[in-house]
Amino acid sequence: MTAATTAPAGSKPDDRSPGTGDTGDPFDKDVLPTPPGATAALLRSLLAPRKARVAVTTLLLLLQQAVVQAGPLFVAYAIDRAVPAFRAHDHGPLIAVGVGYLACAVAAGGLQWAFIAAAARVNQDVLLDLRGRIFRHAQALSVDFHERYTSGRLISRSTTDVESLRELLDEGLQELVTVILSFVYISAMLLWLDLGLGGVAVASLVPLYALVRLYQRRARRVYRARSTAIAAVIVKFVETMNGIRPVRAFRREAANDADFGALNRRHERTNGDALLEMARYVTGSRLVANTAVAAIVLWGAYRVADGTLALGVLAAAVLYLRRLYDPIDRFGMFLNSYQSAAASLEKIAGLLAQTPSVPEPSSPRQLPPLESEHPGREVVFDGVRFGYRTGGEVLPRFDLTLPAGQTVAVVGSTGAGKSTLAKLLARFYDPSDGRVLLDGVDLRDLPMPELRRGVVMVTQEAFLFSGTVADNIAIGRPDATREETEQAAKEIGAHDFISALPDGYDTDVRKRGGRISAGQRQLVAFARALLADPAVLILDEATSSLDIPGERAVQRAMATVLKGRTAVVIAHRLSTVEIADRVLVMEHGRIVEDGRPAELVAGTGRFADLHRAWRDSLA
Ligand SMILES: Nc1ncnc2c1ncn2[C@@H]1O[C@H](COP(=O)(O)OP(=O)(O)O)[C@@H](O)[C@H]1O
Ligand SMILES: [Mg+2]
Repeated sequence: MTAATTAPAGSKPDDRSPGTGDTGDPFDKDVLPTPPGATAALLRSLLAPRKARVAVTTLLLLLQQAVVQAGPLFVAYAIDRAVPAFRAHDHGPLIAVGVGYLACAVAAGGLQWAFIAAAARVNQDVLLDLRGRIFRHAQALSVDFHERYTSGRLISRSTTDVESLRELLDEGLQELVTVILSFVYISAMLLWLDLGLGGVAVASLVPLYALVRLYQRRARRVYRARSTAIAAVIVKFVETMNGIRPVRAFRREAANDADFGALNRRHERTNGDALLEMARYVTGSRLVANTAVAAIVLWGAYRVADGTLALGVLAAAVLYLRRLYDPIDRFGMFLNSYQSAAASLEKIAGLLAQTPSVPEPSSPRQLPPLESEHPGREVVFDGVRFGYRTGGEVLPRFDLTLPAGQTVAVVGSTGAGKSTLAKLLARFYDPSDGRVLLDGVDLRDLPMPELRRGVVMVTQEAFLFSGTVADNIAIGRPDATREETEQAAKEIGAHDFISALPDGYDTDVRKRGGRISAGQRQLVAFARALLADPAVLILDEATSSLDIPGERAVQRAMATVLKGRTAVVIAHRLSTVEIADRVLVMEHGRIVEDGRPAELVAGTGRFADLHRAWRDSLA
C-alpha cells in the first residue's frame, strides 16, 4: 500500500475541517460500509439488461475510431505518391486520395452521430433505472435507517452522485475508449510507417504512463475530499431549511451563515486543489509530449535530408504524434470523472445494500377473521425489551395485555417511553427480545399490508401529503368514495372547516389558501384514521394542537374514532383520559400504575397527584 492512498503519517494536519471534527459525510463510512463487491455488482446489474445495446454502442465507437485514424495515411500517400504522380500528369491517385479522405470524414461524422445517439439512450436508461432504485429502496427502508441517514444525504445520493455517474457515462467512457484505441492504432501506424520514429513515440509513453499513475493517486485524494465537501454543503442546506422555524425562533441565522460559509469555502478549496492537480498533470504531459515531438522532427528532418526517410512519412508521423498526445489531457479529465463516479457509485451501492431492519416475514401468517362488526383485536406485549441503536434500554422488560376493544390511556413524563411503546406496536421497530402479538400473531409474522391495515398510528405531526384535502383523508382507504370521505370528516367534526376552504374538499393543501392550521391537520388525520377503520388505533399526543375551545368537539371526535377498537391513547392532557377504560402510568419504561381512571383518581398514586394538579389548574 502506498502512502499516497492513505493519509501518510506526518503529513500536514488537516486544518481544513471547519469546527468540531466535522469531516463532511462520515455516515457513509460509519453507518453504511459498502460490502465488498457491491459496487461491481451494482454496475453489472445496471449494464447486464442492456448488453446488446452496450455492444452496439461500443462497436460504433470502434468503427468511428478506425475511420478517423485513417486520415494521416491519406496525407502520407498524397505527399509521397499522389502528388508526384500528379506532376507526371497522372491525376487518378490524387483524385482517389481526395475522395477517400472526404469519404472518411463523412463516415466518421456519421458514425460519431450514431454513437452519440446510441450512447445517450443507454445512459439515460441506466440513470433512470438507478434513480428509481435509489428512491424505491430508500422508501422501503425502515424508520431507524432514516433516523441515521438524513434526507440531505439521500438527496446527495440521487442528485450529485447520479450526476457524476452521468458525466462518466456521457463523456468519460467515450474518452477512455478513444484514448486507448488511438494509442493502439497510432502506435501501430507509427511503427509501421517507420520503426525508428515510431520507437521514439512509443518510448515517450513510458514517462507519460508514470505521470498518469502519479496524477491518479493524487487526484483520488482531492476528489474524495471534494465530493465529501459537496455532500456536507447539501446536508447543511437541507437541514437548515427543514428546520427553518427553529432557526428563526432561536436566531440561528448568523451562526448558520458562518457554518455554511465555512463548508462552502471548504468546497471551493477542494475544487481549487482538484484544478491545481489537473494543471500540474497537463503541464507535465505537455512537456513530455513536446520533447518527443521536437526529438522526432529533428531526427526525421535529418533523415529526410539524408534521403533515408520520405517527407510524406515524416509529415504523417508528425500528424499522428499530435493525435497521440492530444487525448492525454483529456485522459486526465477522464480519470477525474472516473474517480468521482467510482466514489459516487460506491456510496450508492452502500445505500442499496442496506436491508430493512424491519423486514417482511418470510413465512407470513394471517390474522384470524374479525368476529363482529367493530371489534378490536387483542394486543399483547410479551416480555418485550427494546433500546434504540444509540443509547440504553428504553423498555427494560415490558408485559402488557390489552383486551380487544379496550381504550387505554397512557400517561407519564417526557421520555418515559410512551412513544416507543406506540412505535413498537405499529412495528416501526422490532423488539430486541420478546414479542408483540396481535390476536396471538407475532407482528413480525404479519405481512406488512395487513399490519398497516390493522394498526394505525396518528401522531402529533399529522403530516399532509401534497394533494387535496379529500386525497389526504382517502389515504386511509384509497378505494373510498367521496361520500365515505365526507362522511368520515363529518363524524370527526372536520366538515365545517373543510367546507369553508376555497375549494372545499378539493383544496390543494400545498397551495395558497389551502394552508390549514396544526389543529385542523390533526382533524384531517383523525378522519383519515376513521376511514382506514383499523382494529387497533394509536393516538400519540394526537390532540396536542387542538385548541381548548374545541375540546368538546375533540372529545366527540375521539369517542367516534375509538368506538369499538382497541385503542392506545397517549394523552397530553388529562381531559382525554376520562374517555378511557383504563389508565397506565409509565415511568422509565415501566408501568407504575394501572387501573380504571376513577380508581386511580381516588387513590394516592402518581396519577392522583397529576389529576389533582390538573383540576386545580382549571379552577
Ligand atoms: N429515535 C430515537 N433514537 C434514540 N433514542 C430515542 C429515540 N426516540 C426516543 N428515544 C429515547 O427513548 C426514550 C423514550 O422516548 P419516548 O418513547 O419518545 O418517550 P415519551 O414518548 O414517553 O416522551 C427517551 O430517553 C428518548 O431519548
Ligand atoms: Mg412521545
